Amino acid sequence: MPRRVVIDTDPGVDDAVAILLALASPELEVVALTTVAGNVALDKTTLNARRLLELAGRPDVIVAAGMAEALAGSPAHEGGVHGEDGLGDLDWDEPSVPVHPDDAVEVLRAAIEAGPLTVVAIGPLTNLAVLLRRYPGVDERVERVVIMGGASFMGNVTPAAEFNIWADPEAAREVFAARWPMAIMPLDLTHQAFLNDDDLAYLRSLRTEVGRRCADMLEPYAAFHERWYANRDIIMHDATAIYELIDPTAITSEGVAATVETGGEYSRGATWFDRRPAHRASPVRVGVRLDNDRFRALVRERLATYR
Ligand code: BDR
Ligand code: CA
Repeated sequence: MPRRVVIDTDPGVDDAVAILLALASPELEVVALTTVAGNVALDKTTLNARRLLELAGRPDVIVAAGMAEALAGSPAHEGGVHGEDGLGDLDWDEPSVPVHPDDAVEVLRAAIEAGPLTVVAIGPLTNLAVLLRRYPGVDERVERVVIMGGASFMGNVTPAAEFNIWADPEAAREVFAARWPMAIMPLDLTHQAFLNDDDLAYLRSLRTEVGRRCADMLEPYAAFHERWYANRDIIMHDATAIYELIDPTAITSEGVAATVETGGEYSRGATWFDRRPAHRASPVRVGVRLDNDRFRALVRERLATYR
């Protein structure tokens, strides 16, 4: 039986690859994409979720819009990493996939009530925090939460903070403190998962709309990586969360206690993973290692299934 998942997302180029990977994977049944402000504003992340479902030929998947602002009310948009529109500024037709009349939190709640559900959170954690506030105890009815967020060694917005956590630290703190089993994929792991120019060429060689669009979206993202990190490895942060679900043996993880710094003169949005032995058997896991050749092969294989 495929695992039922809702993907909470702020597409985002790497979100796009993660979503297309999930939709092409028989191990997963994607019930909904719930959107949140993050890489770009909420109206854009919601439009992008609809565009991606249209591209994938999956109008049956629900799109529901969530929170437009972080809990503390600050805007959470990253400056241009994913282009002005969040998907690398390509031309798209207006998608026909509708937006659900209920907000993301209600759609998440309904999906949880309908049966065992894994929530994959690959944007700021505002929607999940509002879910916890609106429906106390809901965390005990979620099978698992898989999160892309955080960093131990080095952040990517500040030296301490990774973007998804930095964008709404108060939400992340509440989500990390909840009782659902969690797997967290921090930058220390996601930087091990990347595509390169050979993969872009491969995607183009598929001669499909998905292959061409992915390559076109990833091209400016590669250029960003070149400017920022001085090489063109295209880090697939969000796809690691989907990868973990598709192949549970693919990512080595450790049991931890996890929390988020919400104060701090320099460290607001930092994640703390307590890896001391007392937490070895913790239901909170942090991803530490993966094999990029295996990861890339899976991404290629699955994206090639689109016609
Ligand atoms: C995270 O921030 C966003 O830019 C990406 O989509 C990813 O979710 C990486 O720090
Ligand atoms: Ca994201």
